[in-house]
Amino acid sequence: MIDFTFQNPAKIIFGRSALSHLYEEAARYSRRVLLVYGGGSVKRIGLYDDVMNILSGGGFTVFELSGIVPNPVLSRVYEGIELCRRENVGLVLAAGGGSVIDTAKGIANGMKYSGDVWDFYAHKRVPETALPLGVLLTHAAAGSEMSYSSVITNENGMLKRGFNSITSVPKFSLLNPEWTFTLPPYQTACGVVDIMAHMMERYFTSVTHVELTDRMIAAGIQTVLNNAPIALKTPDDYDARAEIMWAGALAHNSLLDTGRIGDWCTHRLSHEISAAYGLAHGAALAVLFPAWMKYVVKQKPEKIAQFAADVFGIDPASGSKTDVALEGVRRLETAYRSFGVPVHLKEAGIVNADLQMMIRKALPDADSTLGEYVAIGRQAAAEIFKLAE
Ligand code: NZQ
Ligand code: ZN
Repeated sequence: MIDFTFQNPAKIIFGRSALSHLYEEAARYSRRVLLVYGGGSVKRIGLYDDVMNILSGGGFTVFELSGIVPNPVLSRVYEGIELCRRENVGLVLAAGGGSVIDTAKGIANGMKYSGDVWDFYAHKRVPETALPLGVLLTHAAAGSEMSYSSVITNENGMLKRGFNSITSVPKFSLLNPEWTFTLPPYQTACGVVDIMAHMMERYFTSVTHVELTDRMIAAGIQTVLNNAPIALKTPDDYDARAEIMWAGALAHNSLLDTGRIGDWCTHRLSHEISAAYGLAHGAALAVLFPAWMKYVVKQKPEKIAQFAADVFGIDPASGSKTDVALEGVRRLETAYRSFGVPVHLKEAGIVNADLQMMIRKALPDADSTLGEYVAIGRQAAAEIFKLAE
């Protein structure tokens, strides 16, 4: 186990009564609020009306930034920053999934910075402060409700990039599993894949003696695997939605990073697929994670074999490390297929993808590599994309 500092200041209010805390939580920060939301689901589920009744009815002035799209774009972040400056907004409130929350994070950081907010995503600057951010979570997936991250696509070059900062951790996040009942099956499935991927990126590490977090991750993935079929079959099953929602927050709140170094190659490559072909983040991960695992098994099967045993209960003595590892990959693909997500690019309708373009964007320096468990350079990335075709 390596040395670590763990700090996650997000206040989580979880359950059916979560919204009853909105007034009190928002009032701690400002009476001038920017409400950020997506393409209409918050209105269809009645959350928009409830929020407006609580805030406008309670004497807050609410400004709105709506129509945030999946794989959210930088121009909407700029728009939100301008609006906040013009109206002297003191609290950004995101109602939605990861795309909405990440846009709100960009706005909250950018509002307090005199330069271009893209500097943070381009890793040229680090934010020192940000507006306070509150979250009403309607999608269990990205984990942005507790994470340090914001991921935005710059339309200039279609660069999908993220940055991590404690200034991006929400001050409060309200999580009501009932708000996720209306998620279409495909979105539910993409969310589940992303939650599992956040745990897997951390599981696959070369750091040894991380038994506690290994076991926590395996338990988290098993919980999601158990509850995903229930939520897909019965979308309003509160208990299944609650298990998945809490798993989503814990998967990405940095607790599972403690004492270890995550890999993150798969996420990095998946962003290029989403940026170039618009594929949902979870679907891009379902396509790439098995491909990455198949490639890595050839170099270093140990941790993949351990994953197969820990998560799927495959007997480590049933074959070689490579056999056990590949059986784990097969089980993972079977689970993804049963959720209804693609596990190959062609199943996602992407044929003849421009692999070299994606590789150059992910690895602009010919000598650079991605990943921790195994270093992935351009040649290896090409093999992974080929396995994903
Ligand atoms: O736009 P609306 O109408 O709200 O519809 C959304 C959207 O079409 C819909 N939706 C959300 N809640 C719903 C609902 N539909 C019905 N009922 C509800 N209750 O779901 C669709 C997808 O929403 P989106 O926010 O894009 O999904 P997700 O939460 O998966 O977020 C994905 C984004 O987060 C980034 C991804 O790269 C991607 O851009 N990530 C953010 C991370 C972070 N900040 O920590 C980490 C992740 O690894 C990830 O990269
Ligand atoms: Zn993710």
